[in-house]
Amino acid sequence: MRKKIKIKKKPFIILFIVVCLVSLLLVFNKANSPINMEDKLSKLGYSSSEVKTIMKNVPKDEYKLILKKYNKSLVNLLSSKDYKEENFKKYIEYYEKNPKASIEDIIVIMNSKYNLMKYPASSLLASLVKEKYYIHRNVIRYLDYGNSHEAEARKIISIVNSKADYKFYTDTKEANVKDGNLILVNKFYHLPDKYEPDDLVTLTEKYNQGVNNKMRKEAADAFMKMVDGAMLDSIILKNSSAYRSYDYQVNLYDRYAKRDGKEKADIYSARPGYSEHQTGLCSDINKIDSSFANTKEAKWLAGNAYKYGFILRFPEGKEDITGYKYEPWHFRYVGIDAAKVIYDNNLTLEEYYAYYIEK
Ligand code: DAL
Ligand code: ZN
Repeated sequence: MRKKIKIKKKPFIILFIVVCLVSLLLVFNKANSPINMEDKLSKLGYSSSEVKTIMKNVPKDEYKLILKKYNKSLVNLLSSKDYKEENFKKYIEYYEKNPKASIEDIIVIMNSKYNLMKYPASSLLASLVKEKYYIHRNVIRYLDYGNSHEAEARKIISIVNSKADYKFYTDTKEANVKDGNLILVNKFYHLPDKYEPDDLVTLTEKYNQGVNNKMRKEAADAFMKMVDGAMLDSIILKNSSAYRSYDYQVNLYDRYAKRDGKEKADIYSARPGYSEHQTGLCSDINKIDSSFANTKEAKWLAGNAYKYGFILRFPEGKEDITGYKYEPWHFRYVGIDAAKVIYDNNLTLEEYYAYYIEK
């Protein structure tokens, strides 16, 4: 007897569960159905064109996010040319954290491939993430520097990537000799103790007029090619100072420091171990004097050296990045590919290194 009742009950229970599930599904669907949504949006105060914009751009499974109250910012968000439907949820979450920020800034920041949710929205942050040379691990330093200096985003990024938001000769590290032609030696990166390249060659008289007449082989070859190339344009170039040993730089810097004081000497002379001349990859060409800048030779170099793999190492206007005053005579070999990128994008080696090598 008992058994019989059990058999009869089962289908009813199953049927009951199925009916419940189907009704739940129907109710849920109705709440989110387009017709119902349009109604709800109009009731919240959205105009019919705003309703259209919302219906067209908000992902269907995110409707619940927008049904709290009328919000003009939502319409602005959806009407922006940079709006991306796949980022909708991120925009809303970020907007809720930063209700006073501009919608355009929110869109730019959330469109970035980096996770910036935890950083306060600001137009500074938006302008930083748009920059080509933005490096995410530097974001806090960019913001710190940008908030304490009047500077454009590109400048902030250049300064911080180059470590020039730190005081020169602080936080110094050993340069990476393995970087070869791209080694970075500056006020933050020094050469290993008494470093001397093992492939120095001597420049002949045709190419040289100074006592420091050695360069690393590849750089020397490129240098001679450049001098020969310049000659075809009736430009005469000669090396005045190329490789300088650690000890040589000790004497040079000491002499300058005694004459002008350390602070002034630091603007035009590297401290021993921190001079690029010790790499054997650079040359001071012709006249080591600021008057050289106005000569046809300096102009030729500024516009052509990159074709041979050399860059103007301490350009005008980049003193706060390189740490040195403009040196129109100092050219550094980095190889043709890097030189072209540096020239085309108006970079210093510091900026190039941070983005293309260190990163
Ligand atoms: N004049 C450059 C900066 C040097 O001393 O290496
Ligand atoms: Zn030099």
